[in-house]
Amino acid sequence: MDKLIIHGNIPLQGEVRISGAKNAALPIIAASLLSPAPVRICNIPHLHDVTTIISLLGQMGASLTLDERFNIEVNASNVNCFHAPYELVRTMRASILVLGPLLGRFGEADVSLPGGCAIGTRPVDQHLKALQAMGADIQVENGYIKAKTKGRLQGTTIVMDIVTVTGTENIMMAAVLAEGQTAILNAAREPEVEDLANFLNTLGAKITGAGTSTIVIDGVKELGSGTYHVLPDRIETGTYLTAAAITRGRVKIKDTRPDILDSVLLKFEEAGAHISTGTDWITLDMKGNRPRAINISTAPYPAFPTDMQAQMMALNTVAEGTGMITETVFENRFMHVQELQRMGAQILLKGNTAICTGIDKLLGAPTMATDLRASASLVLAGLAAEGETSVHRIYHIDRGYERIEEKLSQLGARIQRIPSKD
Ligand code: UD1
Repeated sequence: MDKLIIHGNIPLQGEVRISGAKNAALPIIAASLLSPAPVRICNIPHLHDVTTIISLLGQMGASLTLDERFNIEVNASNVNCFHAPYELVRTMRASILVLGPLLGRFGEADVSLPGGCAIGTRPVDQHLKALQAMGADIQVENGYIKAKTKGRLQGTTIVMDIVTVTGTENIMMAAVLAEGQTAILNAAREPEVEDLANFLNTLGAKITGAGTSTIVIDGVKELGSGTYHVLPDRIETGTYLTAAAITRGRVKIKDTRPDILDSVLLKFEEAGAHISTGTDWITLDMKGNRPRAINISTAPYPAFPTDMQAQMMALNTVAEGTGMITETVFENRFMHVQELQRMGAQILLKGNTAICTGIDKLLGAPTMATDLRASASLVLAGLAAEGETSVHRIYHIDRGYERIEEKLSQLGARIQRIPSKD
């Protein structure tokens, strides 16, 4: 397994371009199953999770062609297999996103239950309950969700018990080809949900309200073709902003969307960063100063994203003062704490709150990545630490960050990927 070696304590400076959002690209690629016509998707990030969903659709009979700039052409006219096997779903929970499209267009889906993962139990009961309300017959047998419907799904009003991102997306995708109108109340408002709706509307769907907590979908008989450009990754953006903040550096982030990062940018300002923004760029300048500790509570959009929690924890480890971070979305998302402690971080865990008192300098250490964002926090800590930090099991990082070591090197970091010998 590859590892990253970082020699830290260098203020980062320079410019970095942001890739397309993983959490928009995955549902959009899955949603292309809904159309029998060719669909072109641009600004796809080059990530392991994207490769996984491409092979999943390929196994179903879709043809997917990638050009050298990682734009994808999907043709789902010959899909004849409605099965998402355990082997793929266990490597990427987002595979559940094929459930809605398969059921909506073909009336049949056989998708492995994702099960828990490092950050929590993560059930999919909300997805299933809503699809049942739309008329699907759903059985869970031998670890698989076996869903069927006679004729088209039926539009109805669905009230989500909790805010779920992929749950909202699955229902929205299923409802696109349903008969009549579907309303999703207490829907997730994440920008990636809105991006998926915009993509579907490009193909001829009739969705309004995406980006708010009430989404209304008027079913249509068939979708057509279209070209769509995936929105920039707000979590990748936040991670590079943290890289500059934690090293007391200065960075310009290009090809991004500051308007979807309000809660994150406000926290950087509280930490003492000078932030400027334009339509598609953000600059962060610490003016050489040590960051101040910040308090954060994660919650669904537009509140502070759970996917930025671990990175902000890394920032607090070297900040002035004591910061409290409360995780309300996932029950076990503090796996990075123990690893940060190996570098000297002073963090006390109390239930779902981490109380961190900043120290002057972290010290480099061997560390182990446990999940995607936890691994990002270890890289960030390594950038600020004195001496050498190694981050093992970086396949987690490759799931969600495109060429992270190249992008950080561009900003002056001393970071190197050591390929595995096996
Ligand atoms: C998505 C994101 C992930 C992000 C998360 C929260 C993708 C591919 N992944 O994951 O990066 O961290 O949103 O912003 O977009 N829950 C239930 N029952 C359900 C569904 C969810 O109890 O049927 C719970 C989950 O266990 C969790 C909470 O709801 O505690 C939110 O999860 P959800 O929004 O569904 O996360 P994902 O869509 O899996």
